[in-house]
Amino acid sequence: MGILADVHGNLPALLAAVGRLRGEGAERFLCAGDLVGYGPFPNECVELIAGLDAVCVAGNHDLIALGHLADDRCNALARHSLAWTRERLSPASKAYLEALPVSIELDGVVMAHGSPDDPQRYVRRGGEAARELAAVAARWPAAQVLVLGHTHIARAWAPGGRPLDAGAGSVMPLAPDGPVLLNPGAVGQSRERRIRARSLVLDLHEQTAAFHADAYDVGASRRALRSAGLPAETVHLSPTLAGRAARRLRREVEGMWRRPGTGRDLGAPDRA
Ligand SMILES: [Fe+2]
Repeated sequence: MGILADVHGNLPALLAAVGRLRGEGAERFLCAGDLVGYGPFPNECVELIAGLDAVCVAGNHDLIALGHLADDRCNALARHSLAWTRERLSPASKAYLEALPVSIELDGVVMAHGSPDDPQRYVRRGGEAARELAAVAARWPAAQVLVLGHTHIARAWAPGGRPLDAGAGSVMPLAPDGPVLLNPGAVGQSRERRIRARSLVLDLHEQTAAFHADAYDVGASRRALRSAGLPAETVHLSPTLAGRAARRLRREVEGMWRRPGTGRDLGAPDRA
């Protein structure tokens, strides 16, 4: 099965990721939430995911866009783009997002956005992964895999929080002694060094997981963001010092992230 997460309204990235998964032979699709928010194509992305008949859970951005979750844990950029998204969601997109559960279990795969208990929880470290995996093993004893998104960084952990290789192109075996945690990384808003549409192929028959990272038409995404009046930087929140400095410079040039009336910078979007 092909696994996606954190699409964030980025249609060019979603097309690349789905193309990769189809090319790898995926016929069933899972999506770990955040279909919308940040990106300029919320309705198009919901329509594409719905057309794949993907099994999908709601992310925090989906819930905030619907008004079911407060935006007080969001940074200024996320709040701004979610307000834009809320105004543009079609009735069909709203109905699709409204119907999404916050967690599911399917054929030994448990999937949620941040964690099964909280779509806003970040699982970034081995200890946090170990706790989530133990909770999943207790609640769903037959689970082989826990799929999470939300961090926008591809990661994998074995039971106990032992890190596994989630590098692009790596194929890792599932663990025989309990569920593994797989985070495919983000389709539509990379927070890694290179701008890529991330995805994951899970083969329960072969008991393997394969991580993928594909280039896409980033220029098209940036142009669409600009014409929507949204900042083009949102397609890539690079974690490097150079990336952070470039974002600060772009914000200065675009002049978009200043607190009205004060001229003060509203800050970099590093979470939510
Ligand atoms: Fe996200």
